[in-house]
Amino acid sequence: MLIFSNILQIQNHLTKLKSEGSIIGFVPTMGALHDGHLSLIKKSISENDSTVVSIFVNPTQFDDSNDLLTYPKDIEKDIALIKSISENTVLFKPDSYEIYSGEIKSDEFNLNGLDKYMEGECRGNHFQGVATVVNKLLSIVKPDHVYFGEKDFQQLRIIENLVLDQKFDTKVVRCKTVRSSDGLALSSRNKKLSFSSAKIATNLFKALNFAKEKFNTLDAIEIEKKVIEQLSAHSEIQLEYFAIADEETLEPLLIKKNKKYRAFIAAYVSGVRLIDNKKLY
Ligand code: PAF
Repeated sequence: MLIFSNILQIQNHLTKLKSEGSIIGFVPTMGALHDGHLSLIKKSISENDSTVVSIFVNPTQFDDSNDLLTYPKDIEKDIALIKSISENTVLFKPDSYEIYSGEIKSDEFNLNGLDKYMEGECRGNHFQGVATVVNKLLSIVKPDHVYFGEKDFQQLRIIENLVLDQKFDTKVVRCKTVRSSDGLALSSRNKKLSFSSAKIATNLFKALNFAKEKFNTLDAIEIEKKVIEQLSAHSEIQLEYFAIADEETLEPLLIKKNKKYRAFIAAYVSGVRLIDNKKLY
């Protein structure tokens, strides 16, 4: 496996691959890889000639410095996991200086209102930080395909919008959320949960299933009320939001208009912030 930390060096390598006609797939990550990431990497390997994985914990997308400090990191394990899938991938693991040239701050993108609700409301500048780093990474790698999981659905929509707006010649590939057998969506943050908290966290998935089950019979407000009621029975869960929103615009559902809706949830479980979502059609 080739490992690069330097932008010019990876660009030279990728230019050579592209000149030989290689189709490039790209999986941007913040490391602490789990089966969800590995499924993205496998999909990219199966659909491209070469796959680039990046590992970079992006400081500008953290609204909480403690969250950044305690974000799980295990680069040796990550490298071993990627190698266990294929020795043929390219790993890009730049440091902050390489990406931000000493000025760690977000650029300003027009996110077309996709950052107005849910995570955007709760996490300040988070999505400008995500857009900034994804814009930089796509400009470096210039992949044919880039892979993102639907667990971070709002992020996925914001990146789809960014790719269109910035006219990248890259197709964004949506990938299904990978879950543990009890329904918990895989996330690097799950590493911070104790065994019992991980069990309690499955109530978020249960709430989304409840929303799907009742979507045709109850209105969105009633579903939200019942979800709040159900989750308040667990003292370890602090619900941040539950929302039913249009999948395209992410606007909250007011009146059903035959659109594609999703239920979204964010909560602290024993102090660990988790998000999840499920389509309702
Ligand atoms: O989803 C993530 O891991 C990050 O937000 C991303 C897209 C790699 C940007 O830092």
